[in-house]
Amino acid sequence: MLEFSIDRKKCRRCSLCMEDCPVSIIEKDSEGFPFITKEKEKLCLKCQHCLAICPDAALSILGKNPDESMPASDMPAAKQVEALIRNRRSIRHFKKNDVEFETIRSLLCVTANCPTGENMRALTFTIIDNREDMEKFVVKAYGLLEKRIEEGTLPERFRFYAALLRRYKSGRDIIFRGAPHLIVASAPKGEGTPEADCFIALSYFDLYAYSLKVGTVWVGFLAFMFEFMPEIKDVLGIPADHEAPYALLFGKAKYKYPRGVQRDDFRINRPEF
Ligand SMILES: Cc1cc2nc3c(=O)[nH]c(=O)nc-3n(C[C@H](O)[C@H](O)[C@H](O)COP(=O)(O)O)c2cc1C
Repeated sequence: MLEFSIDRKKCRRCSLCMEDCPVSIIEKDSEGFPFITKEKEKLCLKCQHCLAICPDAALSILGKNPDESMPASDMPAAKQVEALIRNRRSIRHFKKNDVEFETIRSLLCVTANCPTGENMRALTFTIIDNREDMEKFVVKAYGLLEKRIEEGTLPERFRFYAALLRRYKSGRDIIFRGAPHLIVASAPKGEGTPEADCFIALSYFDLYAYSLKVGTVWVGFLAFMFEFMPEIKDVLGIPADHEAPYALLFGKAKYKYPRGVQRDDFRINRPEF
């Protein structure tokens, strides 16, 4: 049930909702007002473009009140977005105190607005929101790693993890960096575009976190562990049928970076036809 409804007092019958609908299921009735037939409802992506594009705030879908959407005028200037992208740094030194749960909640709510293939929105965010649990998880993760090493079941290309374990035992955690929090994005295998969806969501989380003064670092070392030591996913309670391609550590940054880095170089391929 889409709960597609039009406020006929407000709607000026501009047809923008019809034109923009990605699956073209909105039609006009005899008076020119938009509607969706029952048969076509199942094709709806639930992307809410129809609600977002309506200049009259006359269209509601999925029970959403258009007046409760963030106005599009609340946009940052391009310079501010540039500053965010240029100045976001990977944070590898964290303060001891936790990020407030309200901040984590707000990070997740905003991240939930990121694009997903076919608007599937099937992501699960596994979150460790306090240092105590994080410390327990780190102990378990290294414990599993040690077991693998002792059993000799570490694949050849991941042999270097033995050195990471040695460093951990000598007091330096190269994998989890003493971060108080972890987020893993996962999504059911085989539906839509789970891998891309997870990366996109974490990228949005990463940038928005920085704007809230929450530091992050992508943790490829953990992603590899998901690959060669899948039992670590059970420790985190990640659903068995989910792909868990990536994770971020996050927390309050211990140090500040007073300037950005300089890497405006890129490779370009311009095909000629
Ligand atoms: C997919 C991916 C995996 C990464 N994995 C790790 C990691 O396991 N540990 C780490 O310290 N940094 C990791 N990084 C951070 C990169 O080293 C970092 O982004 C890069 O050096 C550029 O620095 P910047 O993020 O501060 O601009 C990863 C980054 C990406 C994009």
